[in-house]
Amino acid sequence: MTLVPEINGERLLGRLDAFARIGATPAGGVNRQAFSVEDRSARRLLAELALERGFAIFQDGIANLFIRREGSDATLPPLLIGSHLDSQPTGGRFDGALGTLSAFEALEALEDAKAETKAPIEVVAWANEEGSRFAPGVMGSMAFTGADTAAWKSIVGSDGASLATELEATIAALPEARLRSTGMPISGYIELHIEQGPSLEKERMPIGVVTAVQGTRWLEVSIEGTAGHAGTTGLAYRRDPMVAAIAAIHRLQTTIMPLDTSARLTVGRIAAQPGSINAIPQSVSFTVDLRHPQPERLDAIEAEVREVCAAEAEAQHCTATIKRSFDMPGAAFSPDMVKIIEDAVSSLRLPHKQMISGAFHDALFIARVAPAAMIFVPCRDGLSHNEAEYVEPANAVTGARVLLQAAIAAASPR
Ligand code: GLV
Ligand code: MN
Ligand code: MN
Repeated sequence: MTLVPEINGERLLGRLDAFARIGATPAGGVNRQAFSVEDRSARRLLAELALERGFAIFQDGIANLFIRREGSDATLPPLLIGSHLDSQPTGGRFDGALGTLSAFEALEALEDAKAETKAPIEVVAWANEEGSRFAPGVMGSMAFTGADTAAWKSIVGSDGASLATELEATIAALPEARLRSTGMPISGYIELHIEQGPSLEKERMPIGVVTAVQGTRWLEVSIEGTAGHAGTTGLAYRRDPMVAAIAAIHRLQTTIMPLDTSARLTVGRIAAQPGSINAIPQSVSFTVDLRHPQPERLDAIEAEVREVCAAEAEAQHCTATIKRSFDMPGAAFSPDMVKIIEDAVSSLRLPHKQMISGAFHDALFIARVAPAAMIFVPCRDGLSHNEAEYVEPANAVTGARVLLQAAIAAASPR
């Protein structure tokens, strides 16, 4: 008798709880930043679960982790399904973990049913998706798709740690995973993720089929002034980079998004040097995260950021330097993979809508080398990158069911 592969909802929800305990924060979220001790523990747990089930595990030089289930046709490259296990410093329990653990659940469901797929299927946990500790983000999928990684060796994390050292320790912490070179032919990629925005929940839609991802750019602004005594330096004698930074940020926040409802501008990190209560700072640096679906608008907004920072720095007799640390053009997903997901959704008789992702994901890079697409499920109040992130258990399981059906179809093309 052939069994129909079915997602085991209880098993999946139990796993989500187990992984949420790794790096758990008091406020109910997780802090499992890339290549940290907590990230290593999560990778270890996933690897142990895979080995218990008899799957082969691999990792590459950037610490992408792969779990392989063979197909019936050894000549076919694998279909990849997965997401990431690293988190924001005050991240939620589902961003990344839902897609990775649902992909593993799909692999186990196939194994439980002794179901055969033509192509092998590999679960992937991409390394350093978030980029909050070591910028840029999506390092794992960038390296996998051939990005030049030479400059990454010297990257220093937001906590002062060396990327090269932490990466080496992360790889060494999982000796059971066979090393393979970074990048290989694949037949496709499907990623399940929480929406990280409010639209599915508002429209009571259990599934979003993602057709494209908007572009992202990260800028690092540094405004240089002159350090001075807080008590003795009169206004006329100050070159205060804090005044310039505040004015620039205020101007940008009051123009860019109010004037263009598709634009997103976020200043998420600001630091003053030397950071003394009674000294005018020598320099103030801040980050700018820009998003827009249209590449020409991203260019225009970046130009505006540069102009405003330069002008406000000059007004305080300071100088501004701006470095672009990340540039990820948006991309449209493969219509064939989108159709496979839509067929899976229809076969499960679920309401759904097509949508564009406001967040970036590893799928964006993988889409450059293979047909890729994503499945979104709603999250409460659209909250993500927040410890209060929450997904209704039924929605998590529904997403995994869609992923399983789509993976079966993609791995066994007719
Ligand atoms: C991903 O985490 C993003 O910032 O879009
Ligand atoms: Mn994510
Ligand atoms: Mn994220």
